[in-house]
Amino acid sequence: MTPPSSPFSLSGEVALVTGATGGLGSAIARALASAGADVVVADHPSRQAEAARLVHDLTQGGRRAVAVPLDVTNLPGIDEAFSLAEEALGPVGIVVANAGVNIRRPALEVSEADWDTVLDINLKGVFFTCQAAGKRMVPRQRGAIVAIASQHGVVATPRSPAYCAAKAGVVNLVRALALDWSPRGVRVNAVGPTFVETGLTSHLLGDDSIRQDIVNRIPLGRLGTPEEVAHAVVFLAGPAASLITGTCLLADGGWTAI
Ligand SMILES: NC(=O)c1ccc[n+]([C@@H]2O[C@H](COP(=O)([O-])OP(=O)(O)OC[C@H]3O[C@@H](n4cnc5c(N)ncnc54)[C@H](O)[C@@H]3O)[C@@H](O)[C@H]2O)c1
Repeated sequence: MTPPSSPFSLSGEVALVTGATGGLGSAIARALASAGADVVVADHPSRQAEAARLVHDLTQGGRRAVAVPLDVTNLPGIDEAFSLAEEALGPVGIVVANAGVNIRRPALEVSEADWDTVLDINLKGVFFTCQAAGKRMVPRQRGAIVAIASQHGVVATPRSPAYCAAKAGVVNLVRALALDWSPRGVRVNAVGPTFVETGLTSHLLGDDSIRQDIVNRIPLGRLGTPEEVAHAVVFLAGPAASLITGTCLLADGGWTAI
């Protein structure tokens, strides 16, 4: 574990992660706990068995942890989840807005329902998660928010117009929130990962030829790991990033450098 005096330590913090039982979310929750934070495992009501298992693991590792049901499309529920989290563990100082989905479909076949689902979770859900965080952090004059965007918020990918639009929205949203809240001591940043094998990408990456094309396109020559994304989040969430706000840190293996 990182010594509490290190700028990379999150000792004494309470961190809430949305979509916390997914591929990236669970790695982020574990990395925040390894850096010393107590963790609120927030995920969709349908994921509470997975949430309970993750809480068990985190507490076995010596951290305090609690599961709270949080559907990011249920706006009053977001605030309730934050209240439950703070009753259990105290003031939340770090929030990771990670919950996300994609519906891969050519642009000509995207329905209104597809569009609404992707935008509601990936952009509206991120904004209202940040707002619930800000309502608590701004009066306290401290806090760090990290949204999980994507390299596809900066460059595009085929058959994902709603996803690309939502993620580009997140990249500019963190700038807008940083401007609102910087004078009040709250930093807001994003992490933009390249392809990582999780529930979100398993179908795509399960196709050997698509997988090879993607790997060939990444300058570092391999997919990202959930832990590598989590390390970028831990950095942005903590004192080591005290001068950084309104940015999207691309953990993309060089994808956007080309
Ligand atoms: N895996 C990748 O290659 C990749 C790359 C770039 C960005 N991302 C982003 O990382 C984030 C996490 O994705 P992942 O790869 O871990 O996928 P995942 O499918 O493993 O996890 C997604 C999580 O979001 C949760 N979720 C979905 N809808 C929700 C809702 N309405 N309310 C609350 N939670 C909800 C799910 O329960 C799940 O825990 C997403 O925002 C995704 O867009 C992933």
